[in-house]
Amino acid sequence: RTVALVFGGRSSEHGISCVTAAGVLRAIDRDQFDVVLVGITKRGAMVRMQEEDLADYRLDAPALPEVRDNGTRVIWPASVDTRSLTLVASDGTLSTLGHVDAVMPMLHGPYGEDGTIQGMLDLIDMPYVGSGVLGSSLCMDKHLVKVVLQSMGIPVAPWRTVTRGEIDRNPALVETLDDGLAYPLFVKPARAGSSVGVSRVTEASEIPAALEVAFAEDRTVLIESGITGREVEIAVLEGREGQPTRTSSVIGEIVVTGRDFYDFEAKYLGASGVELVLPAKVTEAEFEAIRDAAVRAFEGTQARTLSRIDFFLTEDGPVLNELNTLPGFTPASMYPMLWEASGMSYSELITELIELALE
Ligand code: DAL
Ligand code: MG
Repeated sequence: RTVALVFGGRSSEHGISCVTAAGVLRAIDRDQFDVVLVGITKRGAMVRMQEEDLADYRLDAPALPEVRDNGTRVIWPASVDTRSLTLVASDGTLSTLGHVDAVMPMLHGPYGEDGTIQGMLDLIDMPYVGSGVLGSSLCMDKHLVKVVLQSMGIPVAPWRTVTRGEIDRNPALVETLDDGLAYPLFVKPARAGSSVGVSRVTEASEIPAALEVAFAEDRTVLIESGITGREVEIAVLEGREGQPTRTSSVIGEIVVTGRDFYDFEAKYLGASGVELVLPAKVTEAEFEAIRDAAVRAFEGTQARTLSRIDFFLTEDGPVLNELNTLPGFTPASMYPMLWEASGMSYSELITELIELALE
Protein backbone atom coordinates (compact mmCIF):
# COMPACT_ATOMS: atom_id res chain seq x y z
CA ARG A 1 0.00 0.00 0.00
CA THR A 2 1.07 3.56 -0.64
CA VAL A 3 1.04 6.36 1.89
CA ALA A 4 1.48 10.05 1.05
CA LEU A 5 3.49 11.71 3.81
CA VAL A 6 2.73 15.43 3.83
CA PHE A 7 4.89 17.84 5.85
CA GLY A 8 6.22 21.37 6.22
CA GLY A 9 3.37 23.80 5.74
CA ARG A 10 2.49 27.41 6.29
CA SER A 11 2.57 27.54 10.09
CA SER A 12 5.34 28.63 12.44
CA GLU A 13 5.88 24.93 13.22
CA HIS A 14 7.07 24.25 9.63
CA GLY A 15 10.54 23.09 10.70
CA ILE A 16 9.18 20.84 13.46
CA SER A 17 6.83 19.22 10.96
CA CYS A 18 9.83 18.49 8.70
CA VAL A 19 11.64 16.75 11.57
CA THR A 20 8.43 14.88 12.43
CA ALA A 21 8.24 13.64 8.81
CA ALA A 22 11.86 12.51 8.84
CA GLY A 23 11.13 10.53 12.01
CA VAL A 24 8.04 8.91 10.49
CA LEU A 25 9.93 8.11 7.27
CA ARG A 26 12.69 6.36 9.21
CA ALA A 27 10.19 4.31 11.20
CA ILE A 28 7.56 3.35 8.63
CA ASP A 29 7.57 -0.36 7.75
CA ARG A 30 8.81 -0.55 4.14
CA ASP A 31 7.67 -4.16 3.78
CA GLN A 32 4.10 -2.93 4.16
CA PHE A 33 4.10 0.61 2.80
CA ASP A 34 5.46 2.60 -0.12
CA VAL A 35 5.84 6.30 0.61
CA VAL A 36 5.23 9.35 -1.58
CA LEU A 37 6.69 12.51 -0.07
CA VAL A 38 4.77 15.76 -0.45
CA GLY A 39 6.43 18.84 1.05
CA ILE A 40 4.50 22.08 1.57
CA THR A 41 6.65 25.21 1.41
CA LYS A 42 6.17 28.08 3.86
CA ARG A 43 4.21 29.83 1.10
CA GLY A 44 1.97 26.81 0.64
CA ALA A 45 3.31 25.26 -2.58
CA MET A 46 2.92 21.48 -2.60
CA VAL A 47 6.10 20.00 -4.02
CA ARG A 48 7.37 16.48 -4.65
CA MET A 49 10.20 15.59 -2.30
CA GLN A 50 12.70 12.74 -2.45
CA GLU A 51 13.97 10.69 0.47
CA GLU A 52 17.44 12.19 0.23
CA ASP A 53 15.91 15.65 0.75
CA LEU A 54 14.96 14.55 4.27
CA ALA A 55 18.30 12.91 5.09
CA ASP A 56 19.59 15.91 7.05
CA TYR A 57 16.29 17.00 8.62
CA ARG A 58 17.36 17.13 12.25
CA LEU A 59 16.69 19.14 15.38
CA ASP A 60 20.38 19.65 16.08
CA ALA A 61 21.16 21.10 12.64
CA PRO A 62 22.33 24.75 12.64
CA ALA A 63 18.88 25.80 11.42
CA LEU A 64 15.59 23.94 11.43
CA PRO A 65 14.83 22.29 8.07
CA GLU A 66 12.68 23.96 5.45
CA VAL A 67 10.88 22.63 2.37
CA ARG A 68 12.34 24.55 -0.60
CA ASP A 69 10.35 25.21 -3.73
CA ASN A 70 11.98 22.91 -6.30
CA GLY A 71 9.55 23.95 -9.04
CA THR A 72 7.52 20.72 -8.98
CA ARG A 73 3.86 20.67 -8.00
CA VAL A 74 1.73 17.86 -6.63
CA ILE A 75 -1.88 17.93 -7.78
CA TRP A 76 -4.52 16.17 -5.70
CA PRO A 77 -7.26 14.14 -7.41
CA ALA A 78 -10.03 16.24 -8.92
CA SER A 79 -12.77 13.76 -8.10
CA VAL A 80 -13.70 11.12 -5.56
CA ASP A 81 -13.28 8.44 -8.25
CA THR A 82 -9.50 8.42 -8.26
CA ARG A 83 -6.82 8.38 -5.60
CA SER A 84 -3.94 9.07 -7.96
CA LEU A 85 -1.74 12.09 -7.36
CA THR A 86 -0.40 13.97 -10.38
CA LEU A 87 3.10 15.38 -10.59
CA VAL A 88 3.85 18.54 -12.52
CA ALA A 89 7.60 18.53 -13.18
CA SER A 90 9.48 21.82 -13.12
CA ASP A 91 9.34 21.92 -16.94
CA GLY A 92 5.56 21.53 -16.83
CA THR A 93 5.47 17.86 -17.87
CA LEU A 94 2.67 15.86 -16.24
CA SER A 95 3.05 12.35 -14.88
CA THR A 96 1.30 10.25 -12.26
CA LEU A 97 2.60 9.56 -8.78
CA GLY A 98 0.30 6.56 -8.69
CA HIS A 99 -2.48 5.45 -6.40
CA VAL A 100 -2.36 6.59 -2.79
CA ASP A 101 -4.21 4.56 -0.14
CA ALA A 102 -3.90 6.99 2.75
CA VAL A 103 -2.44 10.37 3.61
CA MET A 104 -0.39 11.14 6.69
CA PRO A 105 -0.74 14.91 7.08
CA MET A 106 2.10 15.27 9.58
CA LEU A 107 1.62 19.02 9.79
CA HIS A 108 1.56 21.03 13.00
CA GLY A 109 -0.37 24.22 13.67
CA PRO A 110 -2.61 26.25 11.35
CA TYR A 111 -3.09 24.98 7.75
CA GLY A 112 -2.44 21.40 8.78
CA GLU A 113 -3.56 20.54 12.28
CA ASP A 114 -6.62 22.80 12.12
CA GLY A 115 -9.06 21.08 9.76
CA THR A 116 -8.03 22.86 6.58
CA ILE A 117 -6.16 20.06 4.83
CA GLN A 118 -8.58 17.59 6.43
CA GLY A 119 -11.43 19.39 4.64
CA MET A 120 -9.61 19.18 1.33
CA LEU A 121 -9.02 15.44 1.81
CA ASP A 122 -12.66 14.88 2.79
CA LEU A 123 -13.78 16.60 -0.42
CA ILE A 124 -11.95 14.01 -2.50
CA ASP A 125 -12.73 11.08 -0.18
CA MET A 126 -9.08 10.43 0.61
CA PRO A 127 -8.44 8.48 3.84
CA TYR A 128 -6.07 10.22 6.24
CA VAL A 129 -4.48 9.85 9.63
CA GLY A 130 -5.87 12.01 12.41
CA SER A 131 -8.93 13.98 13.38
CA GLY A 132 -11.54 15.27 10.95
CA VAL A 133 -12.46 18.87 10.25
CA LEU A 134 -14.34 19.62 13.46
CA GLY A 135 -12.05 17.82 15.91
CA SER A 136 -8.97 19.34 14.29
CA SER A 137 -10.23 22.90 14.21
CA LEU A 138 -11.71 22.71 17.70
CA CYS A 139 -8.54 21.36 19.31
CA MET A 140 -6.44 23.91 17.40
CA ASP A 141 -8.32 26.77 19.01
CA LYS A 142 -7.24 27.04 22.65
CA HIS A 143 -10.21 29.28 23.53
CA LEU A 144 -13.00 27.24 21.97
CA VAL A 145 -11.68 23.91 23.15
CA LYS A 146 -11.60 25.20 26.74
CA VAL A 147 -15.24 26.26 26.43
CA VAL A 148 -16.15 22.73 25.30
CA LEU A 149 -13.99 20.99 27.93
CA GLN A 150 -15.44 23.18 30.67
CA SER A 151 -18.96 22.34 29.55
CA MET A 152 -18.04 18.66 29.91
CA GLY A 153 -16.86 19.25 33.49
CA ILE A 154 -13.17 18.76 32.65
CA PRO A 155 -11.08 21.26 34.65
CA VAL A 156 -9.05 23.81 32.63
CA ALA A 157 -6.93 26.77 33.76
CA PRO A 158 -8.90 30.00 34.42
CA TRP A 159 -8.49 32.32 31.45
CA ARG A 160 -9.82 35.17 29.42
CA THR A 161 -9.64 35.77 25.72
CA VAL A 162 -9.07 38.98 23.83
CA THR A 163 -8.80 39.87 20.15
CA ARG A 164 -6.56 42.45 18.56
CA GLY A 165 -9.67 44.31 17.38
CA GLU A 166 -11.02 44.62 20.94
CA ILE A 167 -7.76 46.14 22.15
CA ASP A 168 -7.52 48.49 19.17
CA ARG A 169 -11.02 49.77 19.91
CA ASN A 170 -10.42 50.00 23.65
CA PRO A 171 -6.72 50.26 24.61
CA ALA A 172 -7.60 50.59 28.33
CA LEU A 173 -8.73 46.96 28.20
CA VAL A 174 -5.08 45.89 28.57
CA GLU A 175 -5.10 47.13 32.17
CA THR A 176 -7.94 44.82 33.15
CA LEU A 177 -6.77 41.65 31.41
CA ASP A 178 -5.37 40.12 34.61
CA ASP A 179 -8.56 40.71 36.63
CA GLY A 180 -9.43 37.56 38.53
CA LEU A 181 -6.39 35.66 37.24
CA ALA A 182 -3.41 34.41 39.25
CA TYR A 183 0.22 35.20 38.40
CA PRO A 184 2.33 33.96 36.79
CA LEU A 185 0.15 34.33 33.73
CA PHE A 186 0.63 32.62 30.40
CA VAL A 187 -0.17 34.69 27.33
CA LYS A 188 -0.81 32.45 24.32
CA PRO A 189 -2.02 32.75 20.74
CA ALA A 190 -5.30 30.84 20.36
CA ARG A 191 -4.02 28.89 17.37
CA ALA A 192 -0.36 27.91 17.37
CA GLY A 193 1.80 25.16 18.82
CA SER A 194 5.22 24.17 20.15
CA SER A 195 4.94 27.18 22.53
CA VAL A 196 5.51 29.59 19.62
CA GLY A 197 4.15 32.99 20.67
CA VAL A 198 3.74 31.97 24.33
CA SER A 199 5.10 34.12 27.17
CA ARG A 200 5.19 33.62 30.92
CA VAL A 201 4.34 36.88 32.61
CA THR A 202 5.08 37.62 36.27
CA GLU A 203 3.85 41.21 36.48
CA ALA A 204 1.26 43.39 34.80
CA SER A 205 3.82 45.64 33.11
CA GLU A 206 4.92 42.67 30.96
CA ILE A 207 1.47 42.08 29.48
CA PRO A 208 1.61 44.52 26.52
CA ALA A 209 4.85 43.03 25.16
CA ALA A 210 3.53 39.48 25.65
CA LEU A 211 0.37 40.40 23.75
CA GLU A 212 2.44 41.61 20.80
CA VAL A 213 4.38 38.34 20.69
CA ALA A 214 1.13 36.35 20.74
CA PHE A 215 -0.69 38.58 18.23
CA ALA A 216 2.13 37.86 15.76
CA GLU A 217 0.69 34.32 15.60
CA ASP A 218 -3.05 34.89 15.85
CA ARG A 219 -5.53 37.73 16.21
CA THR A 220 -7.07 35.94 19.22
CA VAL A 221 -5.03 35.58 22.39
CA LEU A 222 -5.59 33.86 25.76
CA ILE A 223 -4.40 35.11 29.12
CA GLU A 224 -4.31 32.16 31.51
CA SER A 225 -3.56 31.69 35.19
CA GLY A 226 -0.43 29.61 35.70
CA ILE A 227 -1.38 26.33 37.37
CA THR A 228 0.62 24.98 40.29
CA GLY A 229 1.12 21.34 39.51
CA ARG A 230 3.24 18.76 37.71
CA GLU A 231 3.24 18.93 33.91
CA VAL A 232 2.24 15.50 32.55
CA GLU A 233 1.28 14.10 29.16
CA ILE A 234 -0.57 10.99 28.02
CA ALA A 235 -0.90 9.45 24.56
CA VAL A 236 -4.30 8.47 23.15
CA LEU A 237 -5.19 6.20 20.23
CA GLU A 238 -8.64 5.56 18.82
CA GLY A 239 -9.96 2.04 19.35
CA ARG A 240 -10.13 -0.35 16.42
CA GLU A 241 -13.58 -1.20 14.95
CA GLY A 242 -15.77 0.08 17.76
CA GLN A 243 -13.32 -0.89 20.50
CA PRO A 244 -12.78 1.62 23.33
CA THR A 245 -10.36 4.53 23.06
CA ARG A 246 -6.88 3.50 24.22
CA THR A 247 -4.24 5.39 26.20
CA SER A 248 -0.57 4.73 26.79
CA SER A 249 0.03 2.69 29.93
CA VAL A 250 2.52 5.26 31.20
CA ILE A 251 2.49 9.00 31.33
CA GLY A 252 5.41 11.36 30.78
CA GLU A 253 6.39 14.28 32.94
CA ILE A 254 8.16 17.49 32.08
CA VAL A 255 10.23 18.70 34.99
CA VAL A 256 11.18 22.35 34.60
CA THR A 257 13.93 23.43 36.96
CA GLY A 258 16.32 26.02 35.60
CA ARG A 259 13.91 27.68 33.19
CA ASP A 260 10.72 29.73 32.99
CA PHE A 261 8.68 27.07 31.21
CA TYR A 262 8.74 24.27 28.59
CA ASP A 263 9.30 26.69 25.71
CA PHE A 264 10.37 26.12 22.10
CA GLU A 265 14.10 26.11 22.91
CA ALA A 266 13.63 23.55 25.68
CA LYS A 267 11.28 21.43 23.55
CA TYR A 268 13.49 21.08 20.52
CA LEU A 269 16.77 22.93 20.71
CA GLY A 270 18.29 21.15 23.68
CA ALA A 271 18.17 24.18 25.98
CA SER A 272 18.92 23.20 29.56
CA GLY A 273 16.58 23.41 32.54
CA VAL A 274 13.99 20.88 31.40
CA GLU A 275 13.97 17.12 31.86
CA LEU A 276 11.56 14.52 30.46
CA VAL A 277 10.73 11.77 32.95
CA LEU A 278 9.19 8.63 31.57
CA PRO A 279 7.39 6.89 33.08
CA ALA A 280 6.39 9.58 35.53
CA LYS A 281 5.90 8.49 39.11
CA VAL A 282 2.18 8.83 39.77
CA THR A 283 -0.18 6.90 41.97
CA GLU A 284 -2.71 4.49 40.52
CA ALA A 285 -5.50 6.95 41.39
CA GLU A 286 -3.68 9.85 39.68
CA PHE A 287 -3.11 7.75 36.57
CA GLU A 288 -6.77 6.75 36.44
CA ALA A 289 -7.91 10.36 36.82
CA ILE A 290 -5.62 11.49 33.98
CA ARG A 291 -6.66 8.60 31.77
CA ASP A 292 -10.38 9.17 32.36
CA ALA A 293 -10.12 12.88 31.60
CA ALA A 294 -8.02 12.16 28.49
CA VAL A 295 -10.47 9.64 27.07
CA ARG A 296 -13.46 11.85 27.78
CA ALA A 297 -11.72 14.87 26.22
CA PHE A 298 -10.63 12.86 23.15
CA GLU A 299 -14.14 11.61 22.52
CA GLY A 300 -15.90 14.84 23.51
CA THR A 301 -13.86 16.99 21.13
CA GLN A 302 -14.40 14.53 18.28
CA ALA A 303 -10.69 13.84 18.00
CA ARG A 304 -9.86 10.79 15.86
CA THR A 305 -6.94 8.36 15.42
CA LEU A 306 -4.48 9.99 17.82
CA SER A 307 -3.85 12.77 20.28
CA ARG A 308 -1.32 13.71 22.91
CA ILE A 309 -3.13 15.28 25.82
CA ASP A 310 -1.26 17.54 28.22
CA PHE A 311 -2.25 18.15 31.84
CA PHE A 312 -1.19 19.85 35.03
CA LEU A 313 -1.48 17.41 37.90
CA THR A 314 -2.58 19.46 40.91
CA GLU A 315 -3.53 18.60 44.48
CA ASP A 316 -7.14 18.68 43.31
CA GLY A 317 -6.55 16.38 40.34
CA PRO A 318 -5.66 16.88 36.68
CA VAL A 319 -6.26 20.19 34.88
CA LEU A 320 -6.29 19.77 31.10
CA ASN A 321 -3.87 22.09 29.31
CA GLU A 322 -4.32 21.06 25.67
CA LEU A 323 -5.02 18.35 23.11
CA ASN A 324 -2.60 17.98 20.23
CA THR A 325 -4.32 16.21 17.35
CA LEU A 326 -1.11 15.87 15.32
CA PRO A 327 1.58 15.76 17.99
CA GLY A 328 5.26 15.91 17.15
CA PHE A 329 7.10 12.76 16.06
CA THR A 330 10.58 14.26 16.38
CA PRO A 331 13.32 12.51 18.38
CA ALA A 332 12.45 14.91 21.25
CA SER A 333 8.71 14.28 21.05
CA MET A 334 6.75 12.62 23.82
CA TYR A 335 3.98 10.90 21.80
CA PRO A 336 6.05 8.10 20.21
CA MET A 337 8.12 7.79 23.40
CA LEU A 338 4.97 7.19 25.46
CA TRP A 339 3.91 4.33 23.21
CA GLU A 340 7.41 2.85 23.15
CA ALA A 341 7.42 2.86 26.94
CA SER A 342 4.01 1.17 26.79
CA GLY A 343 5.28 -1.64 24.56
CA MET A 344 4.42 -0.38 21.06
CA SER A 345 7.46 0.39 18.88
CA TYR A 346 7.64 3.55 16.78
CA SER A 347 7.23 1.46 13.65
CA GLU A 348 4.24 -0.50 15.01
CA LEU A 349 2.68 2.83 16.01
CA ILE A 350 2.97 4.20 12.47
CA THR A 351 1.40 1.02 11.09
CA GLU A 352 -1.43 1.35 13.61
CA LEU A 353 -2.09 4.98 12.62
CA ILE A 354 -2.34 4.01 8.95
CA GLU A 355 -4.55 1.01 9.69
CA LEU A 356 -6.88 3.27 11.68
CA ALA A 357 -7.03 5.72 8.76
CA LEU A 358 -7.95 2.88 6.41
CA GLU A 359 -10.66 1.42 8.67
N1 DAL B 1 2.80 21.02 18.54
C1 DAL B 1 3.87 20.07 18.74
C2 DAL B 1 4.37 19.55 17.45
C3 DAL B 1 3.47 18.99 19.67
O1 DAL B 1 2.49 19.16 20.34
O2 DAL B 1 4.16 17.97 19.75
MG1 MG C 1 0.30 22.08 21.26
